[in-house]
Parts: sequence; structure tokens; C-alpha cells
Amino acid sequence: MTEIDRPVIRPRRLRQTPALRRMVAETSVEPRHLVLPVFVREGIDAPVPISSMPGQVQHTRDSVRKAAAEAAEAGIGGLMLFGVPSVKDAVGSGALDPDGILNLAIADVVAEVGTALTVMSDLCLDEFTSHGHCGVLDETGRIDNDRTLELYAEMALAHAAAGVHMVGPSGMMDGQVGVVRSALDGAGRSDVSILAYGAKYASAFYGPFREAVGSSLEGDRRTYQQDPANALEGVREALLDVEQGADIVMVKPGLPYLDVLRQVKDAVDIPVAAYNISGEYSMVEAAAANGWIDREPAILETLTAFRRAGADVILTYWAVEAARLLRR
Ligand code: PBG
Repeated sequence: MTEIDRPVIRPRRLRQTPALRRMVAETSVEPRHLVLPVFVREGIDAPVPISSMPGQVQHTRDSVRKAAAEAAEAGIGGLMLFGVPSVKDAVGSGALDPDGILNLAIADVVAEVGTALTVMSDLCLDEFTSHGHCGVLDETGRIDNDRTLELYAEMALAHAAAGVHMVGPSGMMDGQVGVVRSALDGAGRSDVSILAYGAKYASAFYGPFREAVGSSLEGDRRTYQQDPANALEGVREALLDVEQGADIVMVKPGLPYLDVLRQVKDAVDIPVAAYNISGEYSMVEAAAANGWIDREPAILETLTAFRRAGADVILTYWAVEAARLLRR
């Protein structure tokens, strides 16, 4: 046998037993870190499975209450509500209607869980517009940023009136966080907090979500969502949101943007969230269904990666299931 220099430093020593590994783990995922996104659809009387997101459904008003109660039971941090109206128009009128599906669902869920969960709402027009854009269009067909802001302000007040705890402006219009903050404050609702989509990229990984909200997007979102090539721009967007009054900033998508998440975490002094989006969910589900990866460890590894990269909060379609796995 060849003589070797035997190593003195042996990192493997701390990996020998589960107890040792557990003791020195740098990060952990807990149910409280997780937020479940849910879809509520108008005019259906049974939940409708979303084929592009196996295991996820469009809820009825009744079934979303049950899902919320289960989520509270599982001890997760919150719910993010998305509305799927049966009628869409050019200006997304359903978003402002107090009897619109999202506003009704907010009130239903708050009535069900009270403050046991943080109830959040997607504050965006794309689910409500016939053209599928996050804002309204001007006569030339371009997104009208400032007219859209006026609608976001009204939408925030509608959500607040329905009892929401936290709104999530996700349309990537310039100035949206400031406008929403001042609308809420002006209406005496400084208690409603803002989860700002700080860095939100124009991503191909949103694909499965489009079926979930029945979106018929014409064109793409590249004039408002960010270019995947840019990380500094993501940090700048997040800093602007902090200046405008964001309580939490989010990076979205998740897995392909963990570097941006880390940079944002280092740049701000408020909690940072990550959105483990539909495409990331469906890739794992599809591979697992084919027997190509081991599903539960893949889910837990994904969530751990978000925490390691700096996420304080993780929006994930696996929230309730993961909370149960973590308790085991
Ligand atoms: C916009 C919005 C989108 C998602 C959440 N909010 C779609 C988009 O920006 O194109 C995507 C979420 C997911 O893919 O899981 N209201």
C-alpha cells in the first residue's frame, strides 16, 4: 500500500449520525415559514383539478374554506388567494366588485380562520382582464402604468374591506407599492401589510399557472416583468419597494433565481419571501410521477434550498403537505 498523508481535518466527523447532523444543521424549514397559494373559481359547485398542476385544484367558495381550515390545522404561516372570475373584461372590473370572487373568498377565509393564518391576496389584474395583462391598456395597446396604479389602489381598498391581512401587489407596475400604501393609509387601514413582489421575472416557468387562473394572455409580460439576465435590477426593484413601504419583499420565480434571493436578502432589512412557482412544482410532480425522482425528499430539499438562500417566507403549493412531512 502507498503511504499517504492521513488527513487531520475531517469534515465527515460531523456527518456520522442523524443526531450530529441535526445538531449542526445551519438552516431548517418550519411550517410557520410556508404560505399556500390557492385558487378560487367563480360559478363552480365542485373543485376543478388543474391538469398542469397535478394535486392542485380550483376551489369553490366552500372548498377553499375547508382548505384554509386544514392549513391552519397544519400550522403553516398563511394563505395567498387568487381569484378566477367567470367573466373577464378589458379593465378587470371583477377585481373591484365587492361581490367579485376574490373579495368574497377573502371574506370567507377570514371568517373561517380569523387570525390563525395570515390571509393574503394577489393584488393584480391579470386574472380579471380579457387580454390577460396585469394592467389596463391605452388606445395604442400599451400598458398604461399610471391608470393601472389607480385601479390597484381601489383593489387594495376592496381587499381591505373584505378583511385581508396582507396584500401582494404582483403586477410589476412602477410605483405600485407606494400607491397601495397611501391608499390603505388614506382609508385608515394602516394595519394592512404589503408583501411586495420586489423582483419578478418574465419567466417561462409560470406556464402551469396560466391554466390555474384560466389566463388567455396575448403577447408576453416583458415590458413590466424583468429580464432573467438581470440580478442588480432585481435588487434595485426590491430597494424601491422598501422605500415605498413594503413590509416583506419577494423574489419570484424561486429556484432559478436563488442568487437574486440571496442578493436581495443581503440588501434589505425587512423579511424576504420566495415564490416556489407553478413550473417548479409541476416539474417535480411530473418527474416523480414517472418514477425519476423521489418526491418527498425532493420537496424538502427544495424548501431547504430556499431557506439556505435567505428566504424567511416561502410560498409553495406543497405548504400543507410539507408541514405534515416536517412534523413527522
Ligand atoms: C400575476 C401572477 C402570476 C403568478 C402569480 N401572480 C403569473 C404571471 O405573472 O405571469 C404565477 C404563480 C405561479 O406560476 O405559480 N398575478
